[in-house]
Amino acid sequence: MCGIVGYIGKVNAASVLIGGLKRLEYRGYDSAGIALLDGDRVTVSKASGKVANLSERAHSNWSPELFQKATIGIAHTRWATHGPPTEVNAHPHLDGSGGIALVHNGIIENYRSLRARLEAKGDVFLSETDTEVLAHLIGDCDKGDLFQAVCDALHQVVGTFGIAVISSREPDRIITARRGSPIVIGVGDGETIIASDASAIVAHTQRVIYLDDNDIAIVTADAVDIRDLDNVPVTREIAELEQDAAATEKGGFDHFMLKEIHEQPDSLANAIRGRLDLQLGSSVLAGMGSSQRELAELSRVVMVGCGTSLHAAMVGQYAFEDLADIHAGVQQAAEFRYRNPILGSRDFVIAISQSGETADTLAAVKEAKQKGAFVMSLVNVVGSTIARETGRGVYLHAGPEISVASTKAFTCQVSVLLMMALRLGRGRRYSRDEGLKLAREIQSIPSLVQQVIDKGEMIAEIAAKYLDNEHAFFIGRGPMYPVALEGALKLKEISYIHAEGYHAAELKHGPIALLQEGTPVIAVACEGPAKDKTLGNVEECRARGARILGIVTEGDHEAEDVMDDFISVPRAHPLVATIPAVVALQIFSYHVARLRGCEIDQPRNLAKSVTVE
Ligand code: G6P
Repeated sequence: MCGIVGYIGKVNAASVLIGGLKRLEYRGYDSAGIALLDGDRVTVSKASGKVANLSERAHSNWSPELFQKATIGIAHTRWATHGPPTEVNAHPHLDGSGGIALVHNGIIENYRSLRARLEAKGDVFLSETDTEVLAHLIGDCDKGDLFQAVCDALHQVVGTFGIAVISSREPDRIITARRGSPIVIGVGDGETIIASDASAIVAHTQRVIYLDDNDIAIVTADAVDIRDLDNVPVTREIAELEQDAAATEKGGFDHFMLKEIHEQPDSLANAIRGRLDLQLGSSVLAGMGSSQRELAELSRVVMVGCGTSLHAAMVGQYAFEDLADIHAGVQQAAEFRYRNPILGSRDFVIAISQSGETADTLAAVKEAKQKGAFVMSLVNVVGSTIARETGRGVYLHAGPEISVASTKAFTCQVSVLLMMALRLGRGRRYSRDEGLKLAREIQSIPSLVQQVIDKGEMIAEIAAKYLDNEHAFFIGRGPMYPVALEGALKLKEISYIHAEGYHAAELKHGPIALLQEGTPVIAVACEGPAKDKTLGNVEECRARGARILGIVTEGDHEAEDVMDDFISVPRAHPLVATIPAVVALQIFSYHVARLRGCEIDQPRNLAKSVTVE
């Protein structure tokens, strides 16, 4: 979603800011803007569409001298919430005097009443945004001290924010603050960079400070002074970033999505490394705590997440019930807190999120903590809000995921959930022999995935047959049901083909009415207890003229025979097989989208991390 970059230091701010915005493009956005301090005035350039448009606009608006001399500025990529993605609605927004500029992530929920109050005082607004209201409010509070003005304004705000503010009257500082929307401050040598995401900082420095909720900082080129909103100083540690700049580049691939699909053997090896105990047939996940006894007392697992992470949770549900004999449930995170869930201290709540920033998942974590559950996270981005809010958790170690459509995060999430279920299971009825067998299978996941990736060209040829349909169905049973959901999500996200995932048995309860001659049905029918029934459902679709693409187990001729096309994946435990099966669907969707000429890495309207409810 929206991205923030701010710079104060010794080099020309505009290049750093535009470079930073480019590194945030992956988050999804539809307009962009930049504000520089030019002597004693603020100057702004904005454009709808891509950062490249903004860059062009800025170069035509501003003289080369200004580009060279301005060493302080703020910039933003906007994912429209209040008002369409027009130039006027793009950030930065100015206060009434034009001397203060603000960029903002999040939502000011009481902006209507604040705007009415300011309008009654004579303020005139140019945009439809909640952010412009906050800019005016800061201006209204400014009695000569920008820091105090921002504090006073934020005290009046209901909602979430990550902000950066500059003022022509205080050209030596940026004020930045957060509540519910991340801000990271990169501490360089004589320069400081602010961003909503470390990817925009990593090319400049590895030393960062993560703000906590309700922190506000006065940032100069040489210092970061952090207080709370009541002006009481707070101390935040400097952390070292683990990622390097190359990890956020395409490295010779046409798209980040393809790169990330190909990275999966490595990212899975990283997620699994050191976490299996091949003596005890169990797993060692430090983030789950060291006490088997504490885990044995848990009576239920509840997983929360959104999007792809929700699908990983659904695979996890099968794993926890199958391996650990424990009740396991999955709840869409947005629904969780509003339905007043019944939770207690024996409930094990796992918040699953690639970014660690999804607003609904974060809210679910807070609700689960409130109710006294045993809460932990399964997150990819180190130091993210959900990771810090839970305090306890397991990182995926998948490396930065840039493509909006999630791939490697999903397969790493499922692998880690399998290891968690294995550990819980070994504390219950799962025997050492069974545990050892599964642990060895988990260890082989990177090589299973590599075998599917090696079929890329063949999968591309199959994809070429499925380009012209506007609808597709994905079906599966058991743990392959969430794989079908994830396959459908991938296809619709990047190719814009309307794709729906269904439990194979559910097709008969309605969707089958939509099947016509040639309608694609992608059946995930790998070997496992439910395979024969899935093949039965495939026959029902064939009888109605559907064209069937099967994801089948290598050597399973019975399954191959009922499919029009098939992609075979290596034989594995039915839970483990979800991973190579989903990789086959990722590659299929990628090629369909590529051959249809779609943008792939930044699909229209989508955002990488959804930081609003
Ligand atoms: C967005 C992304 C999805 C992602 C979902 C949850 O919708 O486009 O790819 O699965 O958010 O994100 P999270 O970071 O919490 O896993």
